[in-house]
Amino acid sequence: MSVHSSTRTQVAIVGGGPAGLMLSHLLHIAGIESVVVDNRTVEQIETTHRAGILERDSVRLLVDSGASDRVLTDGHEHGGISLRFGGVSHRIDFQKLTGASVWLYPQTEVFVDLHRARTRDGGDLRYGILDTEVTGVLDSPVVTYTDAAGARHEIAADLVVGADGSRSVCRDLVENARQYYREYPFAWFGVMVQAPPSAPELIYTRAAQGFALISQRTDTLQRMYFQCDPNEDPAQWSDDRIWDQLHSRLAGSDGFRLQDGPVLERTVLPFRSFVQSPMRHGRLLLAGDAAHTVPPTGAKGLNLALADVRVLAEVIERAIDKGDGDALDSYTERALSRVWKAQHFSYWMTTMLHRVSGATDFDEQRQLGELQTLISSNAGSTYLAEGYTGWPHH
Ligand code: DHB
Repeated sequence: MSVHSSTRTQVAIVGGGPAGLMLSHLLHIAGIESVVVDNRTVEQIETTHRAGILERDSVRLLVDSGASDRVLTDGHEHGGISLRFGGVSHRIDFQKLTGASVWLYPQTEVFVDLHRARTRDGGDLRYGILDTEVTGVLDSPVVTYTDAAGARHEIAADLVVGADGSRSVCRDLVENARQYYREYPFAWFGVMVQAPPSAPELIYTRAAQGFALISQRTDTLQRMYFQCDPNEDPAQWSDDRIWDQLHSRLAGSDGFRLQDGPVLERTVLPFRSFVQSPMRHGRLLLAGDAAHTVPPTGAKGLNLALADVRVLAEVIERAIDKGDGDALDSYTERALSRVWKAQHFSYWMTTMLHRVSGATDFDEQRQLGELQTLISSNAGSTYLAEGYTGWPHH
């Protein structure tokens, strides 16, 4: 097929989710040109529910870079979370322990803000394309794709960034990469429900039946999750069956009442840990889920992606503007040191709160002992608060 258009840019970004758009935004501020391609449409991305918690530095990055001020007006600052076990909630006070907060601001809103900012600044964004191919990553990268009308286009670039999510095609271009995996024997059943909020902050619950998480969205819409089997079919779950699970897991003796209502959406979210190293091969660099995924407990995924692109924008600027060829070499190590901390944090929160089939009475009592230690120890609570609100950037 003949090529319909040829573009030359400094950085071609494959993937126009929050990682790709934030990188494009930061590069624009540094005076570096980029083109973003994504095979999804803007509408598809805007309507796919993802996690809702932003670390302190993620909020700072959005605000200080001029990408979003809505996070401060429409988002909700949460100075802590509740850990609920044995039928009683215990608050972990992030503000008191670390002076930091997190913000409840759904990833879909982060995407909307970034998309608006890039559009406002004249960004070259190409959504709804097909058959993306990346070649020449060792010396002269080219991204080719087919547009919705069937015409073939090519983008030649100095660097190409794979921010193309957990089913990344760019990832496979990194030769001799090492891949680290961990499977978990459960999944989350996620629901969007029409109900008033049951609590002002998130409730992470450990119950005999398994984990549950009560999160929020608006005055009338709430997000909740409960641990389920990975093969569960959401279509088999009536509203009543869902509420039976949530009510029984949240039951207790402290007067807490879970507000219910119609279930508007239901999905099963798989659990998987994955890391690929290195995150760079020649002129190709990976960012976000393309290079690593974490289990959802603790909501680290988007925060890690934003932390990646913050480092990436800096090393790309040094490589392109200052001719510092070694700058790109530091990327993998800098990004992965945070990724492995987050892998451990997500794993730790997961194992502390979930039920594993085959667990013995000993295992269950030990798990309660761990939670009890955590809430009764300043050091234990601070460890959770530091990880949840996000470790400082170096
Ligand atoms: C949400 C998701 C998470 O995985 C989490 O740990 C906290 C909140 C959410 O969607 O609101």
